[in-house]
Amino acid sequence: MKPVKVGLLGLGTVGCGTINVLVRNAEEISRRAGRDIQIITASARDIIRARQCDTGAMKLSADPFEVVNDPNVEIVLELIGGYEPARELVLQAIANGKHVITANKALIALHGNEIFKHAQQNGVMVAFEAAVAGGIPIIKAIREGLAGNTLQWLAGIINGTGNFILTEMRDKGRDFDEVLAEAQSLGYAEADPTFDVEGVDAAHKLTIMASIAFGIPLQFDKVYTEGITHITQDDIVYADELGYRIKHLGIARRTSLGIELRVHPTLIPRRRLIANVNGVMNAVLVKGDAVGPTLYYGAGAGADPTASAVVADLVDVVRVLTSDPENRVPHLAFQANAITDLPILPMEAVKTAYYLRLRAEDRPGVLADITRILGDSGISIEAIIQKEPADGATDVPIIFLTHKIFEKNMNEAIEQIEQLPGITAKVTRIRVETLK
Ligand code: NDP
Ligand code: HSE
Repeated sequence: MKPVKVGLLGLGTVGCGTINVLVRNAEEISRRAGRDIQIITASARDIIRARQCDTGAMKLSADPFEVVNDPNVEIVLELIGGYEPARELVLQAIANGKHVITANKALIALHGNEIFKHAQQNGVMVAFEAAVAGGIPIIKAIREGLAGNTLQWLAGIINGTGNFILTEMRDKGRDFDEVLAEAQSLGYAEADPTFDVEGVDAAHKLTIMASIAFGIPLQFDKVYTEGITHITQDDIVYADELGYRIKHLGIARRTSLGIELRVHPTLIPRRRLIANVNGVMNAVLVKGDAVGPTLYYGAGAGADPTASAVVADLVDVVRVLTSDPENRVPHLAFQANAITDLPILPMEAVKTAYYLRLRAEDRPGVLADITRILGDSGISIEAIIQKEPADGATDVPIIFLTHKIFEKNMNEAIEQIEQLPGITAKVTRIRVETLK
């Protein structure tokens, strides 16, 4: 089948991230979508400057309208940002019968109602997963995964730049302006970073989430919006002393009177999971009547994470263009003829670190025997704790933390340790995963 031809608007952080992911994962993406995806043309203001991606095979133009009017382009990726000319370009692409994928939350929050109407009239798709919470598939989760629920409320850390600033201020005592400059250099911030720190970007995203959660029109002008610029180092310290973290939250809640829509800094009890979402990471809590609270976590900004969401939308659109409509999403995610028979590893071939709890007689030589067995099995010890014997007991608990080793080696070592005369009970083993 012929490759799907795509036109790209924008060769910045997200545009180049998308090209790089499409190249890096070309084979997997094609197996999922059922067709190859080819960016044939792209636009940026400066088409001479070197980029963070390879544009060699694309026709480049400084005029983005050339891309949306190119008759060979079937899907337009709008990764320019801002209200205009993005709105005009997207409407032109739709009028030309092209499907559109955008990461532009400002555009969707303000002009989504108009854009979706035109898309419906022209029978084209408009997808915007990357517009909210970067790489987290939150649009899909709310719109599809939670479709059986009456959604009651959602609350999220939905601006990576703001969370990065608050985290660095709290953890390292860094200065607001210095951290903002770093967020800009890392490609997290908006072209106008006041959108990040004054809460406008979070309000755009909240507008979108509230619409798909509650089935209401996009109403950006109704969001109460407060940024983080007035938060000081002292506030962060005092909140900490009280057992709280300060997070910039977007909250949408259904009440008997109407929908709350608000974005502001918030004290959250330190023990809450969402209070421990740090740096550029985002997290969204969604409460449904049937499922209860659910939490979605991941990178909220940056080239590759955002590209992940853009490419997911691309695969969705290509599937509709390619496969039979009743099986738009293949049952096993990959096209039936592209399923591969990768081997499943036996447990013995799995490598993890371990926590071991032993009970051993409290006499010289026992610990040496254990460490010798571990050493002979190639198991390196990260930490040992020997506890005091309980009243009247002659044996003591000994806890080991090991570095990573194959399960097979650990099985053999445990078998030998349990046969030692000084060992008084079976060894308890818990595998350790740092989940980094
Ligand atoms: P960048 O500023 O890095 O890139 C924007 C690109 O658009 C640049 O290549 C720029 O060209 C091009 N461009 C701007 N105006 C025009 C124009 N009139 N005609 C043609 N090209 C133009 O932005 P990002 O990649 O960071 O953001 C893109 C979109 O993705 C925005 O809507 C943003 O909100 C959204 N987003 C960004 C995330 C991130 O982590 N950065 C995360 C999630 C969403 P030139 O390079 O020549 O100036
Ligand atoms: N500027 C945005 C942020 C990009 O920092 O979250 C991701 O939408």
